[in-house]
Amino acid sequence: MGDYVISYRIILTGVGSYLPKNKFSNDSLAKFVDTSDEWISKRSGIRYRHFVSDNETTSEMSYNAAKKAIKNAKISKNNIDLIIVATTTPDNTFPSTATLVQKKLCINAVSFDIQAVCAGFVFALSVAKSMMSDGYYKNCLIIGADSMSKLLDWKDRSTSVLFGDGAGAIILQRVENINDVYKDWGILSSVIHSDGQFYDLLKTNGGVSTNQKTGFIEMVGKEVFKHAVDKLSTSLEEALLSSNKKIEDVDWLVPHQANQRIITAVADRLNFDINKVISTVKYHGNTSAASIPLALDKAISSKTIINGNLIGVHAIGGGLSWGASIIRIGKPKIL
Ligand code: ACO
Repeated sequence: MGDYVISYRIILTGVGSYLPKNKFSNDSLAKFVDTSDEWISKRSGIRYRHFVSDNETTSEMSYNAAKKAIKNAKISKNNIDLIIVATTTPDNTFPSTATLVQKKLCINAVSFDIQAVCAGFVFALSVAKSMMSDGYYKNCLIIGADSMSKLLDWKDRSTSVLFGDGAGAIILQRVENINDVYKDWGILSSVIHSDGQFYDLLKTNGGVSTNQKTGFIEMVGKEVFKHAVDKLSTSLEEALLSSNKKIEDVDWLVPHQANQRIITAVADRLNFDINKVISTVKYHGNTSAASIPLALDKAISSKTIINGNLIGVHAIGGGLSWGASIIRIGKPKIL
């Protein structure tokens, strides 16, 4: 008798997000940064951002987003066996923020953080897909969460106006693809890349082993812009090829929410209808690893993205690190 090979699919069944209560408009930022609503809106499309309050941490935001995603997926938290938090701004240098989320949820699960800055969420997707596809982990909670306000130098107006704080979470579930029921569902492809030769384009000017500080964000904006447009486009094309899909098959693009000008330029380059691109950057600025699940949650809760839609997600961040994934949302109606 031949070996019975089980084929698994990793499907996305829940999403949730959280934004801190403290909301700052461009005008309110202009009270302590030498900037204006006109400059920020024109160059980035950003109008508002949320900042954590004094005692609010990345793990607290993560926990709030996680609870919503678990509820949305209609699963028991006790079934979660893997927690991955993508973050650049952990509560403590160690242990991982994921273990704090695990503690707050009161569950048993392998828990760790991933650090790929704004690309953290797509990196987490790729790692989770691999770990679940080998047949061991069944229910994964991925969280993208960042308190970017803690890394902002208010004297640097070219970076401090672009970022905000927030968290987004998703639930991935491993299902057996019996009779090919799930053939075209879930994560169809996932690609990730890094190139350390661009390390200095976007970084903090401090770190644990450099000067025992966390540092502030420094960015060569124009260069990052060019790389973002190029690498977001090529990685999405690569993910499409790997999933045997064409750009015309995609119902919605959910890009990293860094800057409306980047989002528009990428849609142009991919020849993709901008009306089918989810953009929430206006409401929360660049929330780093949180930005894609935040945008996804807004689009799903407003029923813009519905069960069965094919979506493309893509992100780029410091490193440089970047990647993309093609996902069919939810599960077949008959199940
Ligand atoms: N308010 C007012 N004026 C400003 C501000 C500000 N907040 N910041 C810069 N300026 C001024 C500059 O001093 C400069 O003035 P000058 O001409 O008198 O010297 C002028 O505006 C133009 O500055 P530039 O840096 O040339 O502006 P640019 O058109 O490149 O826009 C921006 C800057 C928005 C940062 C752009 O380069 C960009 O979008 N880069 C991508 C960066 C990004 O999104 N990074 C996010 C992290 S990476 C990621 O997530 C993809």
